Amino acid sequence: MLDAKAKSTDILWHDSQVNRARREDLLNQRGGTIWLTGLPSSGKSTTAYGLESELFTRGFAAYVLDGDNVRHGLNKDLGFSARDRAENIRRIAETAKLFADAGIIVITSFISPYRVERDFARRIHLEAGFNFSEIYIDTPLEVCEQRDPKGLYKKVRRGELQGFTGIDDPYEPPFAPELVCRTAEFSPGEIVSRILGFMTEAGFFLRGDRYSRSFAGK
Ligand code: ADX
Repeated sequence: MLDAKAKSTDILWHDSQVNRARREDLLNQRGGTIWLTGLPSSGKSTTAYGLESELFTRGFAAYVLDGDNVRHGLNKDLGFSARDRAENIRRIAETAKLFADAGIIVITSFISPYRVERDFARRIHLEAGFNFSEIYIDTPLEVCEQRDPKGLYKKVRRGELQGFTGIDDPYEPPFAPELVCRTAEFSPGEIVSRILGFMTEAGFFLRGDRYSRSFAGK
């Protein structure tokens, strides 16, 4: 639950001797989260891993938290009821915030169908002073269903899977995402470039990328 009170008592926050400025100086970037949201098979994972790879090439430390992967471990106890989806996103929001605190650029790739949970993720990042940008991977349902790389839409249509997002379970598109990416109109490479441009403007990177740094150093 988003409003859950801590169950433990007698716990005290311990501050690190490594402050944000030291982490930023080492990593040459601001920790923060790029939060991708969209229907199943909309292109979230392709975008997330493509972006991660490009960030690494440019000398930035990034890490993808991906729905299917995280459900193999940290969130293996959760299913797809509204309550479990909410808990899934609450844990990911908190995990992403920890990565952001470590100075890492986190890219989350979850359907994250409910606005209230995405707003929670945004709020806890902004309150702690970390970047947070919501990117809507806006792909029409028909295109997602046609792609269907995991064959799940077909399973739904055969009546073998219920409660599937976009078909018989809700998806709430963002009202005011920082960026909208239409994967039916642009290639994965074009979308990654657009997000990189956005991240530059949004202040994720300090002192330029690896190429401009080495160029400036000559
Ligand atoms: S979320 O709704 O809680 O954000 P999440 O992104 O973690 O979902 O997981 C979605 C992935 O689980 C989908 O890509 C799909 O492969 C798989 N999946 C299995 N069952 C469902 C379902 N009922 N609805 C949506 N996705 C499902």
